Amino acid sequence: MKKRKSVRNYKRGVKIEDEKLLKILDSARMSPSSCNTQPWHIVLVRDEKIKEELSKCALKGTRINKWMVDADLIVVLCGKPHPILHRGAKLLDRDCHKLDVAIAGEHMVLTATELGIGSCWIGWFSEKKVRKLLNIPSNVTVVSMITFGYPEEEDLLEERDFSLLRRKIEEFVSINYYNNKGVKF
Ligand SMILES: Cc1cc2nc3c(=O)[nH]c(=O)nc-3n(C[C@H](O)[C@H](O)[C@H](O)COP(=O)(O)O)c2cc1C
Repeated sequence: MKKRKSVRNYKRGVKIEDEKLLKILDSARMSPSSCNTQPWHIVLVRDEKIKEELSKCALKGTRINKWMVDADLIVVLCGKPHPILHRGAKLLDRDCHKLDVAIAGEHMVLTATELGIGSCWIGWFSEKKVRKLLNIPSNVTVVSMITFGYPEEEDLLEERDFSLLRRKIEEFVSINYYNNKGVKF
């Protein structure tokens, strides 16, 4: 976790080895999910043209994610809600399927980090555009994308000091009631 960071500079043309990719995918497989529904579907994109099109799917026509093309792999994390469990839960405003898929995504990210492979979550995109580009059916959600690849020198995975990068624990933990302060460690 200390080594993980959002990598946006990738070694172009350097492929992730098959056995490492398999480990990353296997870690998604091992994720917990609501009622063990395992509602993920993962699209692996390595095709240069499709990677470029995905990088152009950023919202409002921005090009903030144009570096995505440099990653060896773009994983498109889709969610296939369970027809009874998730759909039923949605009626009660408690559909966990996107949460399930996101947990699987973070499993992949942490496994990749352990293997020296960089990654970055991509949330700033038009779901409509991605859906059209990849022929994703209407009953399937596009939860997120994640880029994977070997990092360039300037983005190597080294332990970071999070003391300045993140809020203090006391700032986001409360006791018994929301915002009831007084947590001390
Ligand atoms: C759900 C999610 C969506 C994100 N979307 C983008 C994105 O579209 N483009 C991007 O460059 N970074 C994106 N990020 C990366 C965040 O900017 C990054 O995690 C945050 O600034 C903290 O930096 P770190 O990951 O290096 O610790 C996203 C992260 C998450 C978790």
